[in-house]
Amino acid sequence: MNNTIVTNLKKEFIKRFEREPLLIASPGRINLIGEHTDYNDGFVMPASIDKKVYCAIAKNNTINNCTIHSLSLKDSFGFELGQIEKNTSKNWINYVVGVVDIINKDHHLDAGFDILVDSDLPLGAGLSSSAALENAIAFGINDLFELNIPKEELIYISQKAEHVYAEVECGIMDQYSSVFGKKKNLLLLDCQTITSKEIPAKFEPYELWLLNTNVSHNLADSEYNKRREECREAIRLINEHYRAVSSFRDLQPEEISKLKEILPEILFKRTSYVIEENDRVQKAAEALKNDDLVLFGKMLYLAHEGQQLKYEVSCKELDFLVDFSKKFTEVLGSRMMGGGFGGCTINLIHKDIAASYVSEVAEAYQKEFNIALTPLKVSIDNGTHILKNENINL
Ligand code: GLA
Repeated sequence: MNNTIVTNLKKEFIKRFEREPLLIASPGRINLIGEHTDYNDGFVMPASIDKKVYCAIAKNNTINNCTIHSLSLKDSFGFELGQIEKNTSKNWINYVVGVVDIINKDHHLDAGFDILVDSDLPLGAGLSSSAALENAIAFGINDLFELNIPKEELIYISQKAEHVYAEVECGIMDQYSSVFGKKKNLLLLDCQTITSKEIPAKFEPYELWLLNTNVSHNLADSEYNKRREECREAIRLINEHYRAVSSFRDLQPEEISKLKEILPEILFKRTSYVIEENDRVQKAAEALKNDDLVLFGKMLYLAHEGQQLKYEVSCKELDFLVDFSKKFTEVLGSRMMGGGFGGCTINLIHKDIAASYVSEVAEAYQKEFNIALTPLKVSIDNGTHILKNENINL
């Protein structure tokens, strides 16, 4: 927990609203491997991190007037329960009002409330700040109104807010890992059954570093939805011309060559990527269990190659960073992370060279793109939870 942020958030809330708020911590996530596989019923390997969205919330004395203010964005918004509409100019508002509206439609909230948020989670960096915010709001309202919605349902409320209000057809990885993450563990999540196994994150003497490109190409949302559409079309063609499958999960790497004959080139690239990526996640999980970090790192490099050349969700800034790392044997693996088109690479770097490597790559990146690179060392922390007020002393 970031004590400075939480203490200040609570103080600021009491100053503005003269009430004690309920406080929630909701983490961002990293994903070791398994990109764009979640909405294809596949496997992913995410973990929740120590960079979080913090939220303070309390009922006010109205029946339906709500306010939300973000300290990090220095932005506010007011809305009425029952009168919620998509916000066309500010996307971050959609994550909030989306969750509120979905819960209100089912549970008829009987009071207005005020929300104050702050965060040390970088936005637009592929660390799922949107899922963290959605989950924080969902947990807050659930607790405040004593709705007893189970966590397993809250993640779908968050996901629906993203689908309907932010209009991104995301999978479930971000919401799931932000809620169910466990300190020092990775989750091997099966997105077909929505169940996960914990894998201890044992990387010693290597460290996980994120390198934030600080670019976020605005293609991201439209291309994301397009990939989903392409996957649906590929499944339709496979059913029509090859055999009955409900998703790529039903297909094995040995069948890829047969699919080449029936799919147009682009759809074949998308399909083979997903089948191979599912296989890589399994191999990476096995490698971790066997303490084979070299093989694990290889899987990361191969994953990036697939994301760059077959699924085509990378960009020149991400490719530059991954290529650069290949010159260093002490970097076992590197790849783009998250939806793509910007954000971070995730890197497995030997601790002895981590600091010097990071400054070298930052210098090269600055020279190439005239953009500062932001390195971020994250640790793996617990999922979304309500903070005990008595532990936060002002
Ligand atoms: C975004 C989505 C996730 C997932 C990743 C790509 O983060 O929100 O559901 O699809 O992209 O793996």
